[in-house]
Amino acid sequence: MSDSISPSPQGGAAPRCFALIPCAGSGSRAGAPVPKQYQPVAGQPMVRHTLAAFAAAPRIAHCLVVVAPGDAFLGPGAPGVAIADCGGASRAESVFNGLGALLAGGAGAQDWVLVHDAARCLVTPAQIEALIDACLGDAVGGLLALPLADTLKLADAGRVAATLERADKWLAQTPQMFRIAALRGALAAAAPGGFAGVTDEASAIEAAGQRPLLVPGSAQNFKVTYPEDFALAEAVLRSRNA
Ligand code: CTP
Ligand code: MG
Repeated sequence: MSDSISPSPQGGAAPRCFALIPCAGSGSRAGAPVPKQYQPVAGQPMVRHTLAAFAAAPRIAHCLVVVAPGDAFLGPGAPGVAIADCGGASRAESVFNGLGALLAGGAGAQDWVLVHDAARCLVTPAQIEALIDACLGDAVGGLLALPLADTLKLADAGRVAATLERADKWLAQTPQMFRIAALRGALAAAAPGGFAGVTDEASAIEAAGQRPLLVPGSAQNFKVTYPEDFALAEAVLRSRNA
């Protein structure tokens, strides 16, 4: 990865791939003493594992980490990794602000951005590269996702109201890869409504009338969300390094 963002490619130059890591938020469901993305997992703050995966993905040109205003936990950054303390009140707002920082820093409107949760610390360079392989030639872009494994129930007052068809259901993961300008435009349309209902990048792109590509991911690429998730993430990371 390069140290700083070089000027946007001119003419027919190939679009580049940037990583944008939303890393603000408090992790209220995780119950950790610090924001979950900074909680130690397998010997390092969780987000360091996330960043290591992107650093090892050959086609990622540069990585921008979006943290909360005044958050200095990660310090000034590192080669190929910039820190922007422009995090917002929601994940979508953090991503929207981060896209502005990428463009201001020299990324091009037609460059690609891979948005990835800091809290998905088990993503692998191979999964990142598989998403890039699948999306580089696509008009829209897409996301890693997982076909539903379990039977899906509709709940009503704590009881099952119906069993839903699961064959056409997928769980959305990250990274999610779109053109920077297209994603920024899609999020801008949701900004006046406080980004309501925009829980991932694809949902904003869908609201703009596009149909993102579903790229099969891995169950190991889960988002550390609840207290018990830390031990599972730690076990997976330690098994990979064994
Ligand atoms: N995130 C962010 N800005 C926010 C909220 C979340 O950048 N205002 C980031 C988190 O750091 C996390 C990712 O978005 O890496 C996914 O969000 P989530 O798992 O929901 O994290 P939190 O919002 O911090 O957790 P919770 O919803 O349990 O409070
Ligand atoms: Mg949240």
